Amino acid sequence: MIENGKCSVAIAGTGSYTPSRVLTNAELESLVDTSDEWITTRTGIKERRIAAPGETTSDMAVRAAEAALENARVKPEELDIIMVATVSPDTFFPATACYVQSRLGAKRATAFDVSAACSGFLFALQISRNFINAGHCEKVLIIGAEKLSSMTNWEDRNTCVLFGDGAGAAVLISNQDEADRARRVLSTVMGSDGDQTDILVVPGGGSKCPITPMNVDQRLNTISMVGRDVYKYAVNAMKNACEEALAAAGRTAADVSMVIPHQANIRIIEAIVERLHIPMEKTFINLTKYGNTSAAAIAIALDEANRTGAIKRGDIVLLVAFGAGLTWAASVVEW
Ligand code: COA
Repeated sequence: MIENGKCSVAIAGTGSYTPSRVLTNAELESLVDTSDEWITTRTGIKERRIAAPGETTSDMAVRAAEAALENARVKPEELDIIMVATVSPDTFFPATACYVQSRLGAKRATAFDVSAACSGFLFALQISRNFINAGHCEKVLIIGAEKLSSMTNWEDRNTCVLFGDGAGAAVLISNQDEADRARRVLSTVMGSDGDQTDILVVPGGGSKCPITPMNVDQRLNTISMVGRDVYKYAVNAMKNACEEALAAAGRTAADVSMVIPHQANIRIIEAIVERLHIPMEKTFINLTKYGNTSAAAIAIALDEANRTGAIKRGDIVLLVAFGAGLTWAASVVEW
């Protein structure tokens, strides 16, 4: 699965958007039998953002995309491809990316979605990199966007405390100038284990189990998870993905300036970096304020790290994701 290409793809700009509505742990205490103390110690999450009524995944995706395009100084009409990674699309079809294309006026682009749950943004990064390296296109907009609040069972304390809404985006460009190494994607790896589909799943609403008047009360169209199993698998899969991505980039853990991991659980992140012998100070964390926003999480974190100066020119940045499927992915970028 290692794809260590010609190093000709650069991240020209990043952007993100999170809804203004903040849902705190204290508010969740009045919804389910939980406590701020339990949520904080088990996950690190203090609050999450919730989309406004009527605000869609594509609405958030467009806001993040506009910020990324401005940051990259790329116009929508220059885009060749728009990819949206999401598990909470506006509609089953057409793709959320098509709604985004229309709103941006990106007439030349081909738009489609990527389904890899929380790993989706890094899957989109690898797919884009391959398209660009193959010479098929030059400018690609990738977006991770989620309205998980629309598929959360607000009566299930095992899951409702974990997730939030938001979007992040990046503009990828072809850069054949070997002397210009800025923000180069050095490696991308990804993988999946289809034997683990049951431990993190929205069981209903698809063709396997359509929602009917008979089963509507069972909340089958909301997230179901065996948390402990996901936790264990996540630590190993993410650690292995990091090692693969570093090897593919010709780097070691000691070279890493900043890890930008999927923002699901602080304990998972601590376990991974401990195994890689990377200090926690070199880890970018924003799950405290956003919770787990699935495909949007790494995209939002990358944008915040970029805009706050947490990552600087020349830094070796390690991105790593994990999600339903199960899926995982990692990438090394020389910022
Ligand atoms: N508030 C209070 N108690 C809760 C709770 C909540 N929000 N959610 C679960 N509990 C209870 C459980 O019911 C269980 O009670 P019991 O022992 O009486 O049965 C107890 O807490 C321990 O549950 P457990 O699932 O063993 O806790 P945990 O230490 O594994 O932490 C998670 C739970 C979900 C935080 C953790 O397993 C996790 O983060 N898993 C990975 C989830 C994830 O990242 N998913 C997305 C991947 S992309």
